Amino acid sequence: MSLERLIRHARVVTCAGPGPLARARLGIIDDGAIGILGGRIAWVGPDHDRPRDAAEECDVRGRIVLPGLVDPHTHLVFGGSRVDELARKMAGEDYRAIAASGGGIASTVRATRAASEAQLFASARARALAMRSCGTTTVEVKSGYGLRLEDELRLLETARRLDDTGIVNTRRTLLGAHAIPPELRDDRAGYLAEVTGAMVPAAAAAGLAHACDVYLDEGAFSLEEARRVLVAARAHGLGVKAHIGQFADLGGAQLLAELGGLSGDHLEAVSDEGLRAMAQAGVRAVLLPGAWTTLRQAPPDARRMRALGVSIAVGTDCNPGTSPTTDLPLCAALAVRDAGLTMEEAVLAVTVEAARALGAPDVGQVAVGMRADLVCYDHDDPRVLAYAVGGLRARFVWLAGHRVPTADSDIAHAVGSETLEDLNRHGLW
Ligand code: NIG
Ligand code: FE
Repeated sequence: MSLERLIRHARVVTCAGPGPLARARLGIIDDGAIGILGGRIAWVGPDHDRPRDAAEECDVRGRIVLPGLVDPHTHLVFGGSRVDELARKMAGEDYRAIAASGGGIASTVRATRAASEAQLFASARARALAMRSCGTTTVEVKSGYGLRLEDELRLLETARRLDDTGIVNTRRTLLGAHAIPPELRDDRAGYLAEVTGAMVPAAAAAGLAHACDVYLDEGAFSLEEARRVLVAARAHGLGVKAHIGQFADLGGAQLLAELGGLSGDHLEAVSDEGLRAMAQAGVRAVLLPGAWTTLRQAPPDARRMRALGVSIAVGTDCNPGTSPTTDLPLCAALAVRDAGLTMEEAVLAVTVEAARALGAPDVGQVAVGMRADLVCYDHDDPRVLAYAVGGLRARFVWLAGHRVPTADSDIAHAVGSETLEDLNRHGLW
């Protein structure tokens, strides 16, 4: 076998180990090697058994190498900032009350519609690069701040450009049903018809979205409305998922179970019955610690989920309102501290389980045939991912087999001078 690249002397954390126990599932190979060919993993095993004919070798000297992290829930593409709103929330105002008074999602919709393509792309790219410097290589990206056909597609196209320009691997999700746009406040049915009859078919036909999401909650969309959107999405071949139980349990878990959904996300308020339905149907739970921290909510209980047989992934929920963070290891650390995930489960939750929550079969594990998206950290224990409370940085990242820059200076460079002025004004947030 003639390899393009061989990573040597790695503590390989395959996330492809056997059995139900998290420790074994990490599948660690102590002195391991990983061979890369054509952007895929072509060989993995003990270093002493490695193929000898690689064009290039990289010796990582005992450091851990994991599958590139997978962030299964982000609202990465948006315009504007909501820093003022956070101050209001911290002073005691309720998220839903702020939203009802024209703030919240609606304020980001105004800023996003007003943003130029260049601004949207530059800020999304800067956030994606910040994610990559933490070790994230696959990012789920939702639309949801356009709320009309051309703007929702524009957000998904911006996300696709992140792929096309080699920044990160994306899995894109249509979230037209994030809120009713202000101009259609008195015509819910009309807007839902636009989502099901125009957005879903267009996003699916153009290959812009892999899945469809709905914000199913009090003050957002009802169970029946969510059902209409997700049934339409499924009919167009999209995966289905939903924001459920962030505030109230409206039966979303059972709906996702019935429709064969990929994941139910948030889950602070979901009942045991709902969790049981998810477990039986193989719908994954996606925990979003950035949101429960920002909204000062009681976190969901991972022990209860584990006992009921629900598989758990963790995401950043990167968005300007409830979770302004790009740091997936930080979210893993919070899921351990707040929700009771074990440290090993947290590693699986941002790799293999996150990939399954996205229905992405070729990421999240170090195994032959997978994309060669890999991350190396300056540590010999994978639990470091859930140990540092923020700020963990990758030593090396490989995207489709190629080493890519992760340092802040490279990130500033990659953003480009034409939009640097805009970013300097707002930074990532
Ligand atoms: O996942 N709750 C709904 N959607 C986002 C927040 C969006 C926003 O506030 O802009 C969430 O928390
Ligand atoms: Fe979200």
